[in-house]
Amino acid sequence: MNILERFNAMEYGPAPESRKEADEWLKARDLSKSLFIGGEWKAAAGGKTFATTDPAEGKLLAKVSNAGAADIDAAVAAATRALPKWAALSGFDRAKILYAIGRGMQRHQRLLAVLESLDNGKPIRESRDIDVPLAIRHFIHHAGWAQALDREFPEHQPVGVVGQVIPWNFPLLMLAWKIAPALAAGCTVVLKPAEFTPLTAILFAEICERARVPKGVVNIVPGGPEAGEAIVKHPGVNKIAFTGSSEVGKIIRKATAGSGKKLSLELGGKSAFIVFEDADLDSAVEGLVDGIWFNQGQVCCAGSRLLVQEGIAEAFIAKVKARMAKLRVGSPLDKNTDIGPLVDRTQIDRVKGLVAEGAKQGAVCWQPDFALPKVGYYFHPTLATSVAPANILAQEEVFGPVLATMSFRNIEEAVELANNTRYGLAASVWSENLNVALDVAPKLKAGVVWINGTNMFDAACGFGGYRESGFGREGGREGMFEYLVQKTPLGAEIKPTPPPAFPALSEGEAVGIDQTAKLFIGGKQVRPDGNYSFAVVDKKGKLVGEAGLGNRKDIRDAVAAARAGLKAWSEATGYNRSQVLYYLAENLSARADEFAARLINLGNANPKAARAEVDLSIERLFFYAGMADKFEGRVHAPPARAVTLALHEPVGVVGIVAGDDAPLLGLISLAAPALAMGNSVVIVPSSRTPLVATDLYQVIEYSDLPAGSINIVTGYHAELAAVLAKHDDVDGLWVVGDADTCAKAEAESIGNLKRMWTTNGRGVDWASQRAAGDVWLRRAVEVKNVWTPYGD
Ligand code: NAI
Repeated sequence: MNILERFNAMEYGPAPESRKEADEWLKARDLSKSLFIGGEWKAAAGGKTFATTDPAEGKLLAKVSNAGAADIDAAVAAATRALPKWAALSGFDRAKILYAIGRGMQRHQRLLAVLESLDNGKPIRESRDIDVPLAIRHFIHHAGWAQALDREFPEHQPVGVVGQVIPWNFPLLMLAWKIAPALAAGCTVVLKPAEFTPLTAILFAEICERARVPKGVVNIVPGGPEAGEAIVKHPGVNKIAFTGSSEVGKIIRKATAGSGKKLSLELGGKSAFIVFEDADLDSAVEGLVDGIWFNQGQVCCAGSRLLVQEGIAEAFIAKVKARMAKLRVGSPLDKNTDIGPLVDRTQIDRVKGLVAEGAKQGAVCWQPDFALPKVGYYFHPTLATSVAPANILAQEEVFGPVLATMSFRNIEEAVELANNTRYGLAASVWSENLNVALDVAPKLKAGVVWINGTNMFDAACGFGGYRESGFGREGGREGMFEYLVQKTPLGAEIKPTPPPAFPALSEGEAVGIDQTAKLFIGGKQVRPDGNYSFAVVDKKGKLVGEAGLGNRKDIRDAVAAARAGLKAWSEATGYNRSQVLYYLAENLSARADEFAARLINLGNANPKAARAEVDLSIERLFFYAGMADKFEGRVHAPPARAVTLALHEPVGVVGIVAGDDAPLLGLISLAAPALAMGNSVVIVPSSRTPLVATDLYQVIEYSDLPAGSINIVTGYHAELAAVLAKHDDVDGLWVVGDADTCAKAEAESIGNLKRMWTTNGRGVDWASQRAAGDVWLRRAVEVKNVWTPYGD
């Protein structure tokens, strides 16, 4: 054989990773006792087990305990018992334990990787080089947060017992993303791994035992949806952290409504992979391989929609096809494998079904013609072209190795197509022109944007989505806040009060010029759609005026106006917004006497208190005006050749249902942080004292706020809160109201999974200094992490 023949004959030989140690590990254990509760290994109370199989061969790996509701009770009880001591440990003591877990995982790194690949089917190259090292990094990184807790998060405390439910696509990594910050914050946890992939969580529990994690601090309860539901509904759990399908995320949002449980949801995605014509096409092809075929496409942030600029589309698709033909599909334990099997037969059926439906709807689906292994749940990498934007393959999360392709002409069209999804998890932007990439990144509705790269993650950088991709962030400072609470200065319970009827009038009162309080929508005072009004009475029941009764249509108009006004306001500079808010304060100050008189007239305060409320409202406006150009993001330096810009972006259109307490101060305390951060707002002011808000119209009109940035709809709280909650074009909703109103708003918010904050039936002590500050500003922003690699 000459050199050329040798070269041409060069092929990858088999390079299998041994499974011996993993098999021995499985054999040495009685996994019918694999619930780790209160530091003990237990069988499920009902004795039930479930099978976990190897998707490459379809063979049984083990039968594992299947937790039921009684086991979840026991796990929550153990976590509750362990909580006070764990929370009271010094940061250093907690840090030592997190560090010991990280080091323990490092010592068993290969076993963790092999078990993961056996159980899930992911190529060993990925579990060994990505999943496991990143999981370890999370514990070591969070040891630092544990020790720095008091310094970095003053006035915060652990949220308490945390219930965590994770999926099967990154079993160990999702466990680490959940458990590391929870432990660092001083919480105790009950974690349920997914039913297809429980094994590395069991090995992790063993590592916790050896790392001397105090009994009950970490409880691992393998089981199915029933166990997940029991965790979600358990009254002893203070926070739920969930990663999985948007469908189950919505069920969880509904199930926790009104419970006061803190919630973070990391759900599905349909992320865009955008290639501009000046991109390095070969690098973009390699990025795409990682973007959509990593973990067989079973990745929440998979770049499953390829958007290519028209001029290069044909050439780029040809390159993609050539590369696809060379992808190596095979055993997950082979070190050369690019694509392993899907996790289960059900997943194959789902992916096949979606591809068939996509083809029926007009997509042309192409697959390379190499043969798949004869056994195991393998599926060909698939490229769909001629995909219409409404095609199921462009809209639904496939969670498989299927790429849908579309083309675009210019930047505007790329952004429009990229945002044409109900999800908002991630996006990749490929261009050699950093100006273009950095122009596009903020326009994308996604929590993470990778420039000239994809699937970059780090413990120091937050990860999480917008819209139906869920809310909350995992990783970094943002991720820590998910496990901490800062006490909001809550006031008394709010009792639901029926709207007052028009009272009988007393004779002989002086009559001034009649005033009609309207609604304020799109910068104009408008009559309510229904042309009804409601009575405004003082504390003694005396009629002091009438207000327009806003209805569903008025909210719809106000939301449309807020959406239209959002662009100008959100794109204004922080300095510009700060000046407008200062000017608002200036104009309010000029009419301070009038507002104090109104508060007295509504029977809400005595003269001194009324004046104090107006003064504090002006002070608060000043404070947020000052913060408009100061509450900024950060720059992270992850252990990669990249900087990550954690940008603060406005949430979008924010609904605000203000309470009756301190009607002026409460309204300003809610509206000002939202406006300062560039949101447009639709406010439903106090139903009892709406005239304070309607008096503000003239102040607003004089203050240079762009039309639509602030809209006010007077009416009945409970009704309008529910309308705002159901509205799919509202991105965030804050409700100060009675328990029922808050619970209904949370439950109704599942349509677009808007970001919710309610007082859960309590008022707020608005005069407290704690009623202003970062906690309110954080609520008003989404953190978008833009990864920007550097160097060649
Ligand atoms: P899933 O969302 O049903 O399961 C995720 C986790 O939630 C599992 O631990 C499961 O036991 C638990 N769970 C299920 N129902 C629950 C309930 N009512 N209350 C509490 N916990 C519950 O996802 P599944 O069935 O494994 O996969 C179905 C589809 O979901 C996939 O084909 C994929 O499209 C999508 N998916 C998306 C993920 C993501 O990260 N975006 C992760 C997993 C699945």
